Amino acid sequence: MRNPIIVALDVPTAHEALRLTEVLAAVCGGFKVGSELFTAAGPEIVRQIRGLGATVFLDLKFHDIPNTVARAVAAAVRLDVQMLTVHTGGGVEMLKAAEHAAQESARQLGHTPPLMLGVTILTSLDSNSLSQIGLDPDVNRQVRRLANLANQAGLRGLVCSPREVAELRQVIPASTQLVIPGIRPQAVAGDDQKRTLTPREALALGANWLVIGRPICAAKDPRAAAEKILNEIAE
Ligand code: C5P
Repeated sequence: MRNPIIVALDVPTAHEALRLTEVLAAVCGGFKVGSELFTAAGPEIVRQIRGLGATVFLDLKFHDIPNTVARAVAAAVRLDVQMLTVHTGGGVEMLKAAEHAAQESARQLGHTPPLMLGVTILTSLDSNSLSQIGLDPDVNRQVRRLANLANQAGLRGLVCSPREVAELRQVIPASTQLVIPGIRPQAVAGDDQKRTLTPREALALGANWLVIGRPICAAKDPRAAAEKILNEIAE
């Protein structure tokens, strides 16, 4: 079985990110570079992580007009990332343009196309926040609607919260890859993640990839923490 753990490198400097990458590369399936690290360290950090042979998930959640998103996606493909995110709220034309740009630029470069992941409703938004911005206040319904839109646009993956994974698995094609943050090993109390799942629970419900940040990166021994999670999964 491939290693489903993606470590979220939520750190402010390239130095810290590289230190973690070197320690963890052998025990995880990839690394997530998000807005904080990318804004601080730029595309060079992605090149450096790729240079160590590791898989990169570029989590910049693109949301703009289709042409701009397509060009940003093409730039990410040139960086040779394996996964990246776009906001499904950008609409079907934007999603199609993103997927097309990923396929087309990968073909031109002879790369495998990256897995384009749609972000539906951020877990920080509740029913009230959805009403405030004029969306359906039924969070689950809105998530399902956006997941279907992503699917129609040809996206092959979604980021979804632990509370959505079981339900989404029933309405999306079996081939859609689900990437789940909010994962907490049994021993760690769930800091600011309100709804969490253990790695085993998430995989049993149909997750393909688990995004794990603090339980690994903030541990005294990050490598041991990752190995412990791997053992928990394999049991
Ligand atoms: O440290 P922790 O394991 O909570 O990190 C989870 C990662 O997943 C963070 O990078 C966070 O931004 C991201 N994420 C999340 N919840 C979402 C989407 C992304 O926690 N709904």
